[in-house]
Amino acid sequence: MFSNGTLPDARELERRFAVLDPEAYNRAACERYAGLIAEIEQLKRERRALILAHNYQRPEIFEVADFVGDSLELARRARETGNAEVIVFCGVHFMAETAKVLNPERTVLLPDLHAGCSLADSVTAEALADRKAELGALYPDLKVVCYVNCTADVKAISDACCTSANALKVVEAIDSQHVLFVPDRNLADYVQSHTRKTILSWDGNCYVHHQITPSEIGRVKSAVPGIQVLAHPECRKDVLALADAVLSTSAMVRYAQQSDADKFLVVTECGLSDRLLTEVPTKRFFKACKLCRFMKMITLEGTRDALRDLRYEITLPAGVLAGARQALERMLELGG
Ligand code: 13P
Ligand code: SF4
Repeated sequence: MFSNGTLPDARELERRFAVLDPEAYNRAACERYAGLIAEIEQLKRERRALILAHNYQRPEIFEVADFVGDSLELARRARETGNAEVIVFCGVHFMAETAKVLNPERTVLLPDLHAGCSLADSVTAEALADRKAELGALYPDLKVVCYVNCTADVKAISDACCTSANALKVVEAIDSQHVLFVPDRNLADYVQSHTRKTILSWDGNCYVHHQITPSEIGRVKSAVPGIQVLAHPECRKDVLALADAVLSTSAMVRYAQQSDADKFLVVTECGLSDRLLTEVPTKRFFKACKLCRFMKMITLEGTRDALRDLRYEITLPAGVLAGARQALERMLELGG
């Protein structure tokens, strides 16, 4: 969106990109979706179901979610599902897998099985096993830390998992000097710039964050004086170098709530702005139209159908469940 060649002035930028009247926006959305939302609430009661949703989901999904958060919060919340029998995960496949790993006895549903992740697709368990053997011969202390954006079978052969909120903490706490960090190279570079350990990275990235360039950020910064730039660590390092803060999605919400600043450029998937709009209505948010096509595959209709027809169920082999659970538990132990 910032890349059309000409630099609009501040007023034009505000007109085009600032989020407008949050109340009107919410009202219109609620009127449009009221029937479906009521149907979902009824089905939730009948099925004794809980809906967990990631921050990048459509705003109408937030209306039916019991909990909305970043990957770390969702993993924590998935361990506290009380007496729910069914968990509907409004997010992408690896997130639903994580919920299943932490709730093997419950039915976990993903409303659309096509909701994958380009980053998770960049590493397979077979390729990781080969690389681990190769590097293990060179560095006998080698440990594997996997970013949560990977499949459960990749997690199952990793020593610990991490999310964007605790990657540095997990790497610092793990008992090895050499860490093979998979699959996000940008996050690996970010961790490397804050640790004395040796990070061996993988050639993966998130297509949404990796496309953002420093010139896009620079142009908004010069057009809107005083704007604070909040960037997700899945962005390239030359983009992170221009950020005032590098944060996970939920940490961006907290930062915006607590900061004295009143204007922010939110450098991550554009859905986060919907949450910012509803939770921090007194401040202004500028966003890039960087949309994750996978996250947006989840709709209210799909969520209703998932609950009504109990589809699409996430299942994992016992060995994968056990191995991935160990990596996730290790993350919660090391990374808080
Ligand atoms: P968070 O852990 O910050 O929610 O990010 C997840 C993700 O998929 C980012 O692209
Ligand atoms: Fe995957 Fe990127 Fe989409 Fe997050 S935003 S789910 S990392 S493709």
